[in-house]
Amino acid sequence: MSESFIQGLFAERIGGRNHGKSTAIYKFEKIKRAKRAAMAAHPGAEIIDMGVGEPDEMAFPEVVEKLCQEARLPENRGYADNGDAVLKQSAARYMERVCGVKGINPETEVMHSIGSKAALSILPAALINPGDVVLMTTPGYPVFGTHAKYYGGLVHNLPLTEANGFLPDLDSIPADVLAKAKVLVINYPNNPTGASATPEFFARVVAFAKTNNIVVIHDAAYAALVFEGKPLSFLAIPGAKEVGIELHSASKTFNMTGWRCGFVAGNELLVKAYGDVKDNTDSGQFLAVQHAAAFGFDHPEITEKIAGKYSRRMNALVEVLRQAEFNARKPKGSFFLYVKSPKAAVKQDGTRIEFKTAEDISQWLITEKLISTVPWDDAGTYLRFSVTFVAKNETDEKRILNEIATRLGDVKFEF
Ligand SMILES: Cc1ncc(COP(=O)(O)O)c(C=O)c1O
Repeated sequence: MSESFIQGLFAERIGGRNHGKSTAIYKFEKIKRAKRAAMAAHPGAEIIDMGVGEPDEMAFPEVVEKLCQEARLPENRGYADNGDAVLKQSAARYMERVCGVKGINPETEVMHSIGSKAALSILPAALINPGDVVLMTTPGYPVFGTHAKYYGGLVHNLPLTEANGFLPDLDSIPADVLAKAKVLVINYPNNPTGASATPEFFARVVAFAKTNNIVVIHDAAYAALVFEGKPLSFLAIPGAKEVGIELHSASKTFNMTGWRCGFVAGNELLVKAYGDVKDNTDSGQFLAVQHAAAFGFDHPEITEKIAGKYSRRMNALVEVLRQAEFNARKPKGSFFLYVKSPKAAVKQDGTRIEFKTAEDISQWLITEKLISTVPWDDAGTYLRFSVTFVAKNETDEKRILNEIATRLGDVKFEF
């Protein structure tokens, strides 16, 4: 059959004529395939899924109830466009109460998002011209960079290394790159490293942005999931609002990933530009969903409960992995435990299995141990374990963690 003329019409940004023809298999697809193969090879066996990047539980019943009530109101039925005042006001209250950021104007300095992913895909249209450079951290969440490239922008990756506490080295950027850089995208607590920022680092970012005329986008998707102290907002740093915005999301904060709601807050010019492009992109999130998310942002104790669960699981997982000689250290927030991956596993009969990459061991873990993880080979070789694995209750949670210990216990890892 001859090829459809449509194949010749695809834009270069998605591969042009070659779109969809690549045979390369991407990381997450490889994990899925390995999981399916492991299930087929061991029917009925329990796969322990530590690779999930979203909460294992439903939204809290009071939030679901709020959605039901709001969904019945005729005034909520139509296009929300850039939103009404409810979420904007609750976001401003949340920024003050939870993040310690006073004086966010709900009318001009907040705008809802249909999730942070949507905001990260909209913002490049407001900022990126061909040839502009975006500074992104790697490993990381690539959405802003992908869209920046769609507009002809270039991405300069800043590696997150253990030596730097998984914070980017802003002094490492070559002068010619810096001259073309327009945007710095950061994310703390960080996916995948689990690292948290410090006020000193954020202050350095503000100074860097001012010196170099760079916009800062802080993706704070995991901001409130902290195990000690208060969430650290970029906007709490003096001068931050002059250079940037922060993206908050109900997804991880209130177990609402599928609901698609969050907000953008900070610099008025940036919020307005985001709103202008957004207005030409979507028609706003259903007001009932926005109002339920607003209910969440007014009830931070929900997030504290969720973070408490992750903290408990994290304590146990750190112990299990340390027993297996991984250099696991509990992060200060998020639900990710990021550990250096071993170079080899030695079985009791002396057989030595070598792992050249994190992907190698991740594949081995799923195939041989039925434990699913996410490998990262972008800046060193690391495995990401998520504590959002599914467990029926706390007893089951302990059983699963013991099961991991048992499965890892019959080999010796070499690092
Ligand atoms: C760093 C980071 N930013 C943004 C998102 C997307 O969040 P949302 O559900 O609000 O679109 C994720 C989701 O995994 C993430 O890890």
